[in-house]
Amino acid sequence: MFPLRRNRRLRSNAAIRHLVRETILTPSDFLVPLFVVEGKGVKVEIESMPDYYRMSLDILEKEVKELWQMGLCAVLLFVKVPENLKDNAGAEALNSDGLMQQAIKTIKNVCPDMLVMTDVALDPYSEFGHDGIVQNGNIVNDDTVAVLAEMSISHADAGADFVAPSDMMDGRILSIREALEEEGHFNTGIMSYSAKYASGYYGPFRDALDSAPVDMNDVPKDKKSYQMDSANRFEAINEVHADIDEGADIVMIKPGLCYLDIVREIRNEVDVPVAVYQVSGEYAMLKAAAEKGWLDHDSVMMEQLIAMKRAGANIIASYFAKDAVKLMG
Ligand code: PBG
Repeated sequence: MFPLRRNRRLRSNAAIRHLVRETILTPSDFLVPLFVVEGKGVKVEIESMPDYYRMSLDILEKEVKELWQMGLCAVLLFVKVPENLKDNAGAEALNSDGLMQQAIKTIKNVCPDMLVMTDVALDPYSEFGHDGIVQNGNIVNDDTVAVLAEMSISHADAGADFVAPSDMMDGRILSIREALEEEGHFNTGIMSYSAKYASGYYGPFRDALDSAPVDMNDVPKDKKSYQMDSANRFEAINEVHADIDEGADIVMIKPGLCYLDIVREIRNEVDVPVAVYQVSGEYAMLKAAAEKGWLDHDSVMMEQLIAMKRAGANIIASYFAKDAVKLMG
């Protein structure tokens, strides 16, 4: 009761604020998404993601070394697949010499201790821009899951530490876990995109990989038949429990900022590490507002990242990882 308790005492200077700070970000909180393309010497800025690049394997080598030196020790890989290698079956996803498989080997070669996680879903490989196989206007579940399991083995064979299925098919975690065990990949982990919402915030990512659903008859124009409805909360809890029961080591909520209530709820509910993905649209929004001089880039960035950790995320996948670590000094 006032004046016995003056709350401002604990805010009165930087030292005391530091002393009582509850949430502190460190480089090891981050998972760095990277976009890989074919070619040599390629480093192309993604138009809707200022200061973020698609890079060829040689540039990837340098990038990964730099990340490691900064204390960023986990990456999440995505590949941009040339149009002529796309189909409706994910054949290229299983190519042991494909771009993803090469990227994994490249990183493990230059930086063996870097934790390599790989995206597992068919969209970069799909001529229709869907995460699964399209048949008669539907995304077929079980046939897709069979390909995802093979894809996971292929990534593990190439040296991936974790596979990260982002497709939202039912039962894929169990199928992937069983397939990995059968092949002797006992230590390959699974980070499941467990509660992945059908979100407008993925737009810039789809630009980056040229992976948006195509506008064609008999091809769904959105991903709402597999990604979650943003209105739902109980469903997220169910998804997370199902994935843990099926063998997920880490569960992820995605996107970040709009779903921090879900992050907190899941953190309170389960005992496995919880990740959050601050997605491309969240990055783009802040970059655009900062470019216009309407928001202060660095302070808003740190506020958002702190919010994710405070909400309960143990791991933050973010395009801001490097910017944030530079500010940490
Ligand atoms: C695809 C995938 C997406 C993202 C990660 N994996 C896009 C989508 O589902 O359409 C989005 C990441 C981002 O927006 O930063 N399976």
